Amino acid sequence: MTAATKTARPRNLLDFQEWSPERLTAILDNADTMLQVLDRPVKKVPALQGLTICTAFFENSTRTRTSFELAARRMSADVMTFAAGASSVSKGESLRDTIEVLTQYKVDAYIVRHHASGAAHLVHQYSGKPVINAGDGRRAHPTQALLDAYTVRQEFGSLEGKTVAILGDVRHSRVARSNAELLPKLGAKVVLCGPATLLPADLAALPGVTLTTDPVEAVRGAHAVMALRLQKERMTGGYLGSLQEYADTYQVDEALMQHAESGAIVLHPGPMNRDVEISTDAADGPRSRILKQVENGQAIRMSVLYHLLVGRD
Ligand code: CP
Repeated sequence: MTAATKTARPRNLLDFQEWSPERLTAILDNADTMLQVLDRPVKKVPALQGLTICTAFFENSTRTRTSFELAARRMSADVMTFAAGASSVSKGESLRDTIEVLTQYKVDAYIVRHHASGAAHLVHQYSGKPVINAGDGRRAHPTQALLDAYTVRQEFGSLEGKTVAILGDVRHSRVARSNAELLPKLGAKVVLCGPATLLPADLAALPGVTLTTDPVEAVRGAHAVMALRLQKERMTGGYLGSLQEYADTYQVDEALMQHAESGAIVLHPGPMNRDVEISTDAADGPRSRILKQVENGQAIRMSVLYHLLVGRD
């Protein structure tokens, strides 16, 4: 594992505010080791033996929940799965009461997804336990950004001086926000792009982040181009004329990728709306690292669990 760094070790991973570049780099470095573990015939280490981790998901997920649960089990933790849809939340039980009940089962850490921004922070408040934010409202999805950063670094050897263009529904995207916070801390530039109605101007105040409504300008010089899911439920909010209009201008396809760096890669956090924000050719083509992102997600989540629950300094 990477040597300990000097700044105070954060107790939670809610967003990147209290995380130094050194600690974030240590998480990426340790993910290299975790990938090696995942390549062994026996994909298991004892690092979290004796600990109980609760995945508390109040919103649906495929990638994040399965990879966190597998990551915890690969590290020998006991895993308690809480899915709100099949729980007494449907009878009106509050977040506070739910977390206070679950904490009685000697939970050592929570992994939380919730539709409300700030809910992961509340879970830490109600439980007193370390919390990893697995996506809260529009606010943050830090392990997604870490696995995105890791995938770019894996491709190019470093994030220093690289540019990542992120196209789509930036306004409602916790993935865009977390990447805009994380990547500049690691030396990369971020260009956020979408129709003006889906591109909040305040994000331009973040260091290393620029905004444009022009997709060709966005991808020019980009080493990685990420398409964001166009949240179809937003169509009723007056943000877009039509899906087709959006796709005609902002779809990440090979024609748009011709304006990026020659070896540029295509990313998508998933789930995808094929042939809306991303063409099937781009999603499945030689530039695509979308399934690599999924594979890397498990290693990053192992590394985050290790860093928060085992690492000492
Ligand atoms: N990228 C992401 O968060 O996917 P899931 O919703 O499937 O977890």
